[in-house]
Amino acid sequence: PVLVVDFGAQYAQLIARRVREARVYSEIVPHSMPVAEMLAKDPAAIILSGGPSSVYETGAPTLDAALFDNEVPVFGICYGFQAMAQALGGTVAHTGAREYGRTHLTAQGGTLLRDLPAGLPVWMSHGDSVAVAPEGFTVVASSPGAPVAAFEDLTARRAGVQFHPEVAHTEQGQEMLKRFLYDIAGLEPTWTPSNIIDDQVAAIRAQVGDKQVICGLSGGVDSAVAAALVHKAVGDQLTCVFVDHGLLRAGEAEQVEKDYVAATGIRLKVVDAADVFLGHLAGVTDPEQKRKIIGREFIRTFEAAARELDAERHIEFLVQGTLYPDVVESGGGTGTANIKSHHNVGGLPDDLRFALVEPLRTLFKDEVRALGRELGLPDEMVDRHPFPGPGLAIRIIGAVDRDRLDVLRAADLIAREELAASGLDREVWQFPVALLADVRSVGVQGDGRTYGHPVVLRPVSSEDAMTADWSRLPYELIARISTRITNEVREVNRVVLDVTSKPPGTIEWE
Ligand code: XMP
Repeated sequence: PVLVVDFGAQYAQLIARRVREARVYSEIVPHSMPVAEMLAKDPAAIILSGGPSSVYETGAPTLDAALFDNEVPVFGICYGFQAMAQALGGTVAHTGAREYGRTHLTAQGGTLLRDLPAGLPVWMSHGDSVAVAPEGFTVVASSPGAPVAAFEDLTARRAGVQFHPEVAHTEQGQEMLKRFLYDIAGLEPTWTPSNIIDDQVAAIRAQVGDKQVICGLSGGVDSAVAAALVHKAVGDQLTCVFVDHGLLRAGEAEQVEKDYVAATGIRLKVVDAADVFLGHLAGVTDPEQKRKIIGREFIRTFEAAARELDAERHIEFLVQGTLYPDVVESGGGTGTANIKSHHNVGGLPDDLRFALVEPLRTLFKDEVRALGRELGLPDEMVDRHPFPGPGLAIRIIGAVDRDRLDVLRAADLIAREELAASGLDREVWQFPVALLADVRSVGVQGDGRTYGHPVVLRPVSSEDAMTADWSRLPYELIARISTRITNEVREVNRVVLDVTSKPPGTIEWE
């Protein structure tokens, strides 16, 4: 793999994704990992990510110069660029010239910026600057605040940039990353959906052998693709269980029961557990409490279903659609704080007797979608927006019951229909609709006064759900959704739009 060394800023995942978009496999490792351990992973290249704004900052992580005692190609970005310059004998200076945000880069030839325009907008975020490049390096670009803004050493296969090539504001950033990966490090673009499928199928066969496997389908793209992969690998050794917890959106249960089965030929067992889930959720208002109950009951229901299946065939493995960002966010990658207890990671009970099969554990969401398409899953399923495991329970602000679920489902369906009709589905990462079930406000309808509930529209754009911005949907669309909801859903007399980015807000309200 290409290792992306995380120096603690939020950019490592983005870099890892960009590398994979260039069709090269990448993994994130913490900067605290000893160099020997990194090398033991047989890295094709190492990318040092951004981090603190200066190598002089107190507590700034150090870079072990042993990293350069071997032939592995290295690319330093921002902080990683400075740390690399320092470790190789260059000079980093307190110039006092800070650059934050968009700045203008002047290219001076070389391989990294070959064939790109001589003047380029790039995104910078630094206090100090590299004053003198290390021996053997050629300076290939400068900016007003960074005389050495990019350098390369083609013999040693090392390069670095002061700016952030991974962010969209650096328009040619992906091109530069490719120049490093292909032309400097000499890597091949082999990380393609069909290769990923072949690799995963082989890995699943090796892990599972001739044993029986069970998979829970949630209605979402992750479990659907995970199950389809396992089915491709071991066929009828897989039985899928669809736990209908009663917290899904309108039409979703039917889609799993009909379309998915038709597309894959997977054996499916449907468990209607709505009464059990709603019973346990009755009166519960605390978000984390809701999540814990749902996570627990989900696994319990599985175990019960598995025991039944066991009578026919002995089950040993459980498929989980865990994604790479879940692994990284839950501390598996970098020790990043666990902000919400996502119930598919870390929330499994200790007495769970299945071994886990997690074929998506190394993948980002867009890769999972590409796999789903390649595997022939229905478009509506592959393109579906992410939907939280706890479902509508965390979109009802207040206690959950059947009536409230029906109200939210009706409002949510209208929002989904109108978004789809507008053709803007792909512009939006997710479009939660939340019901403020304990809030009432006064309205007027016809001649009568109403005292109903508000719903919140929360369309967001995002790349990975780690950060998000509220979607600037056309007012006409918002207006249509608002009019339809207040006309068609009797209990709702007010529609409000959430205009908060993440951070400080999260995408979901709970
Ligand atoms: P937040 O609200 O934390 O959401 O900005 C980030 C992404 O995660 C989804 N989400 C969850 N997914 N179990 C899940 O499987 C959960 O408990 C959960 N909470 C939030 C959310 O929909 C968004 O895509």
